[in-house]
Amino acid sequence: MALSEQQPAGGSLAAVRDALGDARQVAVLTGAGMSAESGIPTFRDALTGLWANFDPEALASIEGFRADPARVYRWYVERREGVRRAEPNAGHVALAAWARRHPGSMTVITQNVDDLHQRAGQPGVIRLHGDILADQWLEPCRHPAVPGRPCDPADADEGQPPKCARCANLARPAVVWFGEALPEAALARAERAARECQLMLVVGTSGAVWPAAGLALQARRAGARVVILNPADSEIDVVAHDLLRGTAARLLPLLLGGGVAC
Ligand code: OAD
Repeated sequence: MALSEQQPAGGSLAAVRDALGDARQVAVLTGAGMSAESGIPTFRDALTGLWANFDPEALASIEGFRADPARVYRWYVERREGVRRAEPNAGHVALAAWARRHPGSMTVITQNVDDLHQRAGQPGVIRLHGDILADQWLEPCRHPAVPGRPCDPADADEGQPPKCARCANLARPAVVWFGEALPEAALARAERAARECQLMLVVGTSGAVWPAAGLALQARRAGARVVILNPADSEIDVVAHDLLRGTAARLLPLLLGGGVAC
């Protein structure tokens, strides 16, 4: 079936594909929908979203962690196991293959804390919200063995967050929690990519969380063509020139040439 016969509702794959071919720099902003077909739950989808079943403030905030470190840490350990079981889907693979065919021309900016873009071989991924597979210390060490040196983890009990052997500091997941600032360097790189691209592809995000969602507007204001790929409406659809209604694993291979005869 030719590309033109596989148009998603609301936008033309062929037109966007031509615009991709003309773009010197492409920025891709991804959200949880990018990993949905890999089996990782999104946040706000009514049926499968994490936030539909858990109170985000209780589980993804510093207050929630301090109130019950073991509960929050166990929740992240379960999510980590889900990420480790997951595999990059055809959408991740198509993005990474396009980036390899066009070295230096694609910057993926992700809100996701999984590692599926990286495992698909995507170079230079900008992580706005951290890395669920990593820990960081809750506080600086109060009794460092060497001044300025971080804590040393003691053996943690099952399901308990690692604790420093000297100062009882706790380890926490290295993700951005509600009310926390994004990593400055990552956000600066993302904003630069948004300003310098000729096309921004926004994949699988509700556009509910800023400043990440604002990157699409920054790209548009800088003159880029903004393309939103999502099976449903998002809060930033108004910013898009093109709305491609469909899923990441189905549309990205068609759009990027990873899944259709050229
Ligand atoms: P959401 O759960 O808010 O939105 C997921 C989006 O993906 C929705 O718009 C869905 O319609 C869409 N979607 C679902 N399945 C899809 C598929 N197969 N292909 C493409 N799109 C699909 O997740 P995010 O927008 O990523 O913050 O949420 C943004 C941030 O809110 C997250 O990074 C997280 C959360 O609080 C932090 O962790 C700091």
